[in-house]
Amino acid sequence: MSLVEELAAVRAQALAAIGEAAGTAELDEVRVRVMGRSGELTRYLRQMGQVPQELRAEVGRTANEVRTAVEQALEQRKSQLFASELEASIQAAAVDVTLPGRAQQLGSRHLINQISDQICDVFLGLGYTVADGPEIETDYYNFTALNAPADHPSRSMQDTFYVRDLSGDAAAVRGESDVLLRTQTSGVQVHVMETQEPPIYIVAPGKVYRRDVADPSHLPQFTQVEGLVVDRNISFADLKGTLDHFCKAMFGPERRTRFRAHYFPFTEPSAEVDVSCGICHGEGCRFCKNTGWLEILGCGMVDPAVLECSGIDPEEYSGFAFGMGVERIAALKYDIPDLRLLLRGDMRFLRQF
Ligand code: DAH
Repeated sequence: MSLVEELAAVRAQALAAIGEAAGTAELDEVRVRVMGRSGELTRYLRQMGQVPQELRAEVGRTANEVRTAVEQALEQRKSQLFASELEASIQAAAVDVTLPGRAQQLGSRHLINQISDQICDVFLGLGYTVADGPEIETDYYNFTALNAPADHPSRSMQDTFYVRDLSGDAAAVRGESDVLLRTQTSGVQVHVMETQEPPIYIVAPGKVYRRDVADPSHLPQFTQVEGLVVDRNISFADLKGTLDHFCKAMFGPERRTRFRAHYFPFTEPSAEVDVSCGICHGEGCRFCKNTGWLEILGCGMVDPAVLECSGIDPEEYSGFAFGMGVERIAALKYDIPDLRLLLRGDMRFLRQF
């Protein structure tokens, strides 16, 4: 093979390799292999001095042509590859603004808090304010000041969690602690009457605790909303009108109420309030155990002894009070078969509300 043919072969191979180079890095390898310091073409150009005189012109021209051709091909391919690599990197970094966003799971208030708020809202609409009291309470506020002296049978109606004083107080160690987890929100009545002058119109939502084993209708910790009104000339008619309004606001304007005589130590007279069954409208069905009515709260006229004990003159003022279980109202509103569902974190249940 003559030198000219050899150069033609170098050119053909170089152009083929340039055409096949898949990226700028690979292309640069081809450039070094052909045109680098010890590249295939460079070797020929270096040897020109040894080419016989009569061939030198032709070989020289051919070598220069090959060099120019290879350089041009390199340049061209380089800009091609550069453009497509740029395009690819733009594609890779591209954001598809038409894709839908990832759905965020929104939290919501627990059903118990929603119902508690709804109950309070009805009374806030009547001008009441919200009052608060401690969950760890003394015997005095939970029982004594509510007209339930030490030997009063109402104390055994509610099994109480007593708080043991770890400082070693002898009475506490014997289980005679004065400190307890409140069994009812009624103690807030006493705190309010001690610190506020009538007129008093308050509701007090909060947790209460009883030594009950959890079952479909009992929880050892549940929620109550207490209400207290103390003013001049408050009568049982005010109590009835207020609670009838509450039931209609809470359950629907078509619902009726009835007041059944009952007993609570801190009210006299006392009553339990039933609301007509929303399923059978009083006819009797499974939901209301065939009575047509659902019991929803306890109430009564504040016993004058309770007013007096908290420094309010029963000759000048009278009042009414009421208390209701939030879980029970939630269960009645949404036909929840087991109150324990309300204490579990099962999202399949909680998400419904
Ligand atoms: N504290 C009572 C209970 O837990 C509920 C109650 C009844 C509250 C009558 C009252 C009331 O304020 O007047 O069973």
